[in-house]
Amino acid sequence: MRESEILVKYFEYDSPTELASDYQVLVEKAKDATKDAYAPYSKFRVGAAVLLENGEIITGTNQENAAYPSGLCAERVAIFYANSKYPSQAIKAIAVASFYNGKFNETPVYPCGSCRQVLLETQNRFNKPMDIIMYGSNSIQIVKSARLLLPLCFDVDLKAKD
Ligand code: THU
Repeated sequence: MRESEILVKYFEYDSPTELASDYQVLVEKAKDATKDAYAPYSKFRVGAAVLLENGEIITGTNQENAAYPSGLCAERVAIFYANSKYPSQAIKAIAVASFYNGKFNETPVYPCGSCRQVLLETQNRFNKPMDIIMYGSNSIQIVKSARLLLPLCFDVDLKAKD
Protein backbone atom coordinates (compact mmCIF):
# COMPACT_ATOMS: atom_id res chain seq x y z
CA MET A 1 0.00 0.00 0.00
CA ARG A 2 1.22 3.45 -0.84
CA GLU A 3 -0.36 6.65 0.31
CA SER A 4 -0.30 9.61 -2.05
CA GLU A 5 -1.52 13.15 -1.82
CA ILE A 6 -2.45 15.67 -4.46
CA LEU A 7 -1.91 19.30 -3.59
CA VAL A 8 -3.67 22.14 -5.38
CA LYS A 9 -1.77 25.39 -5.63
CA TYR A 10 -3.82 28.55 -5.92
CA PHE A 11 -3.15 32.27 -5.64
CA GLU A 12 -5.38 34.41 -3.48
CA TYR A 13 -5.96 38.16 -3.76
CA ASP A 14 -7.96 40.46 -1.49
CA SER A 15 -8.98 42.85 -4.25
CA PRO A 16 -9.11 42.95 -8.07
CA THR A 17 -6.70 45.91 -7.95
CA GLU A 18 -3.94 43.42 -7.07
CA LEU A 19 -4.46 41.68 -10.42
CA ALA A 20 -2.71 42.45 -13.70
CA SER A 21 -4.70 45.02 -15.67
CA ASP A 22 -5.98 42.54 -18.30
CA TYR A 23 -7.32 40.32 -15.51
CA GLN A 24 -8.93 43.30 -13.79
CA VAL A 25 -10.82 43.94 -17.03
CA LEU A 26 -11.77 40.27 -17.31
CA VAL A 27 -13.14 40.18 -13.76
CA GLU A 28 -15.12 43.37 -14.43
CA LYS A 29 -16.64 41.79 -17.56
CA ALA A 30 -17.61 38.65 -15.61
CA LYS A 31 -19.21 40.78 -12.87
CA ASP A 32 -21.00 42.92 -15.43
CA ALA A 33 -22.31 39.84 -17.26
CA THR A 34 -24.15 38.65 -14.14
CA LYS A 35 -26.77 41.31 -14.98
CA ASP A 36 -27.66 39.36 -18.13
CA ALA A 37 -28.06 35.94 -16.49
CA TYR A 38 -31.34 34.14 -17.05
CA ALA A 39 -31.79 32.64 -13.59
CA PRO A 40 -35.49 32.93 -12.69
CA TYR A 41 -35.43 29.66 -10.71
CA SER A 42 -32.30 29.84 -8.57
CA LYS A 43 -31.92 33.66 -8.69
CA PHE A 44 -28.21 32.88 -8.56
CA ARG A 45 -26.68 34.96 -11.34
CA VAL A 46 -23.35 33.83 -12.74
CA GLY A 47 -21.16 35.65 -15.26
CA ALA A 48 -18.12 34.23 -17.02
CA ALA A 49 -15.61 36.10 -19.18
CA VAL A 50 -13.18 34.24 -21.42
CA LEU A 51 -9.94 35.87 -22.62
CA LEU A 52 -8.72 34.41 -25.90
CA GLU A 53 -5.17 34.43 -27.17
CA ASN A 54 -6.07 37.06 -29.78
CA GLY A 55 -7.16 39.38 -26.95
CA GLU A 56 -10.88 38.98 -27.64
CA ILE A 57 -13.16 38.66 -24.61
CA ILE A 58 -16.30 36.53 -24.77
CA THR A 59 -18.83 36.59 -21.95
CA GLY A 60 -21.54 34.13 -20.95
CA THR A 61 -24.17 33.82 -18.26
CA ASN A 62 -26.11 30.96 -16.73
CA GLN A 63 -29.23 30.06 -18.68
CA GLU A 64 -31.88 28.21 -16.71
CA ASN A 65 -34.93 26.31 -17.89
CA ALA A 66 -38.23 25.13 -16.38
CA ALA A 67 -36.97 21.63 -17.15
CA TYR A 68 -34.09 22.18 -14.73
CA PRO A 69 -31.35 19.97 -16.23
CA SER A 70 -31.79 21.70 -19.58
CA GLY A 71 -30.11 24.86 -18.28
CA LEU A 72 -26.40 25.58 -18.62
CA CYS A 73 -23.77 27.20 -16.42
CA ALA A 74 -22.18 30.53 -17.35
CA GLU A 75 -18.74 28.96 -17.84
CA ARG A 76 -19.94 26.48 -20.44
CA VAL A 77 -22.06 29.08 -22.25
CA ALA A 78 -18.97 31.32 -22.54
CA ILE A 79 -16.52 28.56 -23.47
CA PHE A 80 -18.77 26.89 -26.04
CA TYR A 81 -19.54 30.23 -27.64
CA ALA A 82 -15.86 31.21 -27.68
CA ASN A 83 -14.93 27.88 -29.26
CA SER A 84 -17.76 28.21 -31.80
CA LYS A 85 -16.83 31.72 -32.86
CA TYR A 86 -13.03 31.31 -32.68
CA PRO A 87 -12.35 27.57 -33.07
CA SER A 88 -8.59 28.04 -33.41
CA GLN A 89 -8.04 30.44 -30.50
CA ALA A 90 -6.69 29.03 -27.25
CA ILE A 91 -8.24 30.32 -24.04
CA LYS A 92 -5.76 32.23 -21.88
CA ALA A 93 -8.03 32.78 -18.90
CA ILE A 94 -11.60 32.64 -17.67
CA ALA A 95 -13.05 34.77 -14.87
CA VAL A 96 -16.23 33.80 -13.03
CA ALA A 97 -18.39 35.94 -10.72
CA SER A 98 -21.74 35.40 -9.03
CA PHE A 99 -24.47 37.69 -7.73
CA TYR A 100 -27.17 36.64 -5.27
CA ASN A 101 -29.54 38.40 -2.88
CA GLY A 102 -28.59 41.85 -4.14
CA LYS A 103 -24.81 41.51 -3.94
CA PHE A 104 -21.77 39.80 -5.34
CA ASN A 105 -20.95 36.72 -3.33
CA GLU A 106 -18.13 37.24 -0.87
CA THR A 107 -16.53 33.87 -1.45
CA PRO A 108 -15.38 32.89 -4.93
CA VAL A 109 -17.70 30.94 -7.17
CA TYR A 110 -16.11 27.62 -8.09
CA PRO A 111 -16.98 25.91 -11.38
CA CYS A 112 -19.18 22.82 -11.04
CA GLY A 113 -17.88 19.34 -11.94
CA SER A 114 -19.30 19.37 -15.47
CA CYS A 115 -17.75 22.77 -16.18
CA ARG A 116 -14.41 21.53 -14.87
CA GLN A 117 -14.54 18.65 -17.33
CA VAL A 118 -15.25 21.10 -20.18
CA LEU A 119 -12.52 23.50 -19.03
CA LEU A 120 -10.07 20.60 -19.06
CA GLU A 121 -11.00 19.44 -22.55
CA THR A 122 -10.72 22.99 -23.88
CA GLN A 123 -7.30 23.32 -22.32
CA ASN A 124 -6.18 19.96 -23.74
CA ARG A 125 -7.56 20.87 -27.14
CA PHE A 126 -5.18 23.81 -27.41
CA ASN A 127 -2.48 22.25 -25.26
CA LYS A 128 -2.09 25.44 -23.21
CA PRO A 129 -2.86 25.81 -19.52
CA MET A 130 -5.50 28.42 -18.77
CA ASP A 131 -5.83 30.62 -15.70
CA ILE A 132 -9.13 30.20 -13.90
CA ILE A 133 -10.01 33.34 -11.95
CA MET A 134 -12.73 32.79 -9.36
CA TYR A 135 -14.10 36.06 -8.06
CA GLY A 136 -15.52 36.75 -4.62
CA SER A 137 -15.86 40.25 -3.19
CA ASN A 138 -13.66 39.25 -0.22
CA SER A 139 -11.28 36.94 -2.04
CA ILE A 140 -10.21 36.23 -5.59
CA GLN A 141 -8.57 32.90 -6.24
CA ILE A 142 -6.64 31.85 -9.32
CA VAL A 143 -5.53 28.39 -10.38
CA LYS A 144 -3.05 28.19 -13.24
CA SER A 145 -4.47 25.13 -15.00
CA ALA A 146 -7.83 23.39 -15.43
CA ARG A 147 -5.99 20.22 -14.44
CA LEU A 148 -5.75 21.56 -10.86
CA LEU A 149 -9.52 21.75 -10.53
CA LEU A 150 -9.97 18.15 -11.55
CA PRO A 151 -7.44 15.84 -9.92
CA LEU A 152 -7.51 12.19 -11.03
CA CYS A 153 -9.51 13.32 -14.03
CA PHE A 154 -10.93 11.46 -16.98
CA ASP A 155 -8.90 12.78 -19.89
CA VAL A 156 -8.06 9.76 -22.03
CA ASP A 157 -7.99 10.53 -25.71
CA LEU A 158 -11.07 8.85 -27.18
CA LYS A 159 -11.00 10.87 -30.38
CA ALA A 160 -11.04 8.66 -33.45
CA LYS A 161 -7.65 8.49 -35.12
CA ASP A 162 -7.62 9.26 -38.85
N1 THU B 1 -23.95 27.94 -11.96
C1 THU B 1 -23.10 28.48 -12.88
O1 THU B 1 -23.51 29.08 -13.89
N2 THU B 1 -21.76 28.32 -12.68
C2 THU B 1 -21.20 27.77 -11.56
O2 THU B 1 -19.99 27.74 -11.45
C3 THU B 1 -22.07 27.23 -10.52
C4 THU B 1 -23.52 27.21 -10.81
C5 THU B 1 -25.38 28.18 -12.15
C6 THU B 1 -26.23 26.97 -12.44
C7 THU B 1 -27.59 27.45 -11.98
O3 THU B 1 -28.19 28.22 -13.01
C8 THU B 1 -27.28 28.38 -10.82
O4 THU B 1 -25.91 28.73 -10.97
C9 THU B 1 -27.51 27.77 -9.46
O5 THU B 1 -26.88 26.59 -9.32
